[in-house]
Amino acid sequence: MCGIVGYLGPQNPKDIILQGLKKLEYRGYDSAGVAILDHGIFKRVRAEGKLVNLEKKLVDEKFEGHLGIGHTRWATHGVPSERNAHPHQVDGISLVHNGIIENYLEIREDLLKMGALLTSETDSELVAHLVALEIKKTKDLFLAVKSILLRLRGAFSIVVIWDQKPKEMIAFKDGPPLIVGLGPEETFIVSDVQAAIAHTSEFVYLEDREVVWIQNKEVRFFDDQGNEVKKAPVHVAWSEDQMDKMGFPHYMLKEIYEQPRAIAHAIKETFQIPADFESQFDQVQKITIVACGTSYYAALMGKYYFEKLARIPCEVDVASEFRYRNPLIKKNDLVIAISQSGETADTLSAARLGKSKGALLLSICNVKNSSLDRESHIQMYMNSGIEVGVASTKAFTCSLALLNVLALRLGLYRNQIQKPEFKEQEEALKALPSQVEAILSYDKYFLEASDAFKEFKGFLYMGRGVSYPIAMEGALKMKELAYLHAEGYPAGEMKHGPLALVDANIAVVMILPLDEHFEKSLSNLEEAKARGGKIISLSTGHQPKLKKISDRYLSLPKAHWSTNPILSVIPLQLMAYHLADSLGHDVDQPRNLAKSVTVE
Ligand code: AGP
Repeated sequence: MCGIVGYLGPQNPKDIILQGLKKLEYRGYDSAGVAILDHGIFKRVRAEGKLVNLEKKLVDEKFEGHLGIGHTRWATHGVPSERNAHPHQVDGISLVHNGIIENYLEIREDLLKMGALLTSETDSELVAHLVALEIKKTKDLFLAVKSILLRLRGAFSIVVIWDQKPKEMIAFKDGPPLIVGLGPEETFIVSDVQAAIAHTSEFVYLEDREVVWIQNKEVRFFDDQGNEVKKAPVHVAWSEDQMDKMGFPHYMLKEIYEQPRAIAHAIKETFQIPADFESQFDQVQKITIVACGTSYYAALMGKYYFEKLARIPCEVDVASEFRYRNPLIKKNDLVIAISQSGETADTLSAARLGKSKGALLLSICNVKNSSLDRESHIQMYMNSGIEVGVASTKAFTCSLALLNVLALRLGLYRNQIQKPEFKEQEEALKALPSQVEAILSYDKYFLEASDAFKEFKGFLYMGRGVSYPIAMEGALKMKELAYLHAEGYPAGEMKHGPLALVDANIAVVMILPLDEHFEKSLSNLEEAKARGGKIISLSTGHQPKLKKISDRYLSLPKAHWSTNPILSVIPLQLMAYHLADSLGHDVDQPRNLAKSVTVE
């Protein structure tokens, strides 16, 4: 997901924009740039790679101006390079863009026929050309932008400035988020509040197809028909220190360690939702959960919770599949969309599809006022605090805790479970934070073991029942952080193929807490051992037989079937984190990945 920072105000735009882009680094990018209007001329500096490369180029640059835009680019059209980096400039227009212009090829051909000199391979530059051509007719930036929007197809957000108007900034949002930060003397346009939270707490969230026109200190909003709309600012109570690493080497490790407190908060908040909460679902006969990536594995866990505790049929689908298979959603269905960022394009589209088919849409997000949060009928929050590391950790475990409590409350409300079982599970959930604390002491174990793990050519994560989604999530962490081959599988599937993978180069990671599946999982493990697999196993307490066949064994605190998954994933997060760090990878910003995938 690209990062956008636009600034108009009395401060030095260079510092404001660079600070803002740094706050967006965690989302992943591969080039960056700024353009500042300096005495009527745009001074533009761009650099490939990390922001530090841009900073080096800017260190001696002096800017006299009050208007500027900056961008961190995550390459879609055109390789990561300086000439493909934003801002793109044509004549007196400077523009940054997030998203994809789907009809860029036809626009490119038209512009080339008109003799346009293209300097990049990007779709973004084409938009700058269109605005530059249009403004020759309109002599007005707002009218020019409004006019070219009619030509563009796709999900995109843009911020445009013109060298003839040093006190004006225009932005359009359709898909990737754009938020207006309102300071007393200054205005920001950012793709994430974190880029401006140091300067203001008042923000206005643009909806799809809306335009914001900033003229000096006046901020006006319009729909795509040109009708002015009134939009109230939202007060965002985040503080800058929540962004700080608090002494940890990486945001990801800080967020792993924040889990006890975050999980406790998620559990408390969900138990405390007013008692009439369940009645909203009285007509619900089926639940469908849609999500992507780690949030999808949380959704898989949701199926076990809703079907075992509330006895409600529950389907789970990868959002990018759900949105294209014309799903059978009826009026009384509940669609749950899980998304930490609340901006994942596929999850947003799947949620909108469910809603358009008449379903009740419940969103589970970590970012309040995100697009998904604002578009759902019912909102729930992971409440995990800002998650900066691209690899999701605390948002995942908070999602599991929240889904567990939600299913528990629905089960009691619908008389599928009785009070004693409810109380037993409530106690198990309340014991989680201290149990997670205990597991975090494994940290040094994984630090020491990471050298040994480097020898493996691949990892096979296995689990049965509620341990199966955890096997999937553990494998994803290993893939996205250590860049190593890792697969997650239901353990019962081993003999149907994966067993052929097993030899001395493969680590078989079996999650087998003491539950109804323990014995079967143990026999699966013995099959892998017999074929030379290196065994890493996680189970409850002291298990001599299991320890004997394992190369590495980690004991988990005694817990309830519904809370075992939350405990099991912590060691897998630490294992992937330490292995990736020992391999010298950028743990907070793994290669090729973004924190929020706002394009398909
Ligand atoms: C997980 O570690 C990854 N960052 C990725 O799979 C992520 O979970 C996925 O892109 C969904 O993001 P969301 O929860 O913000 O929708």
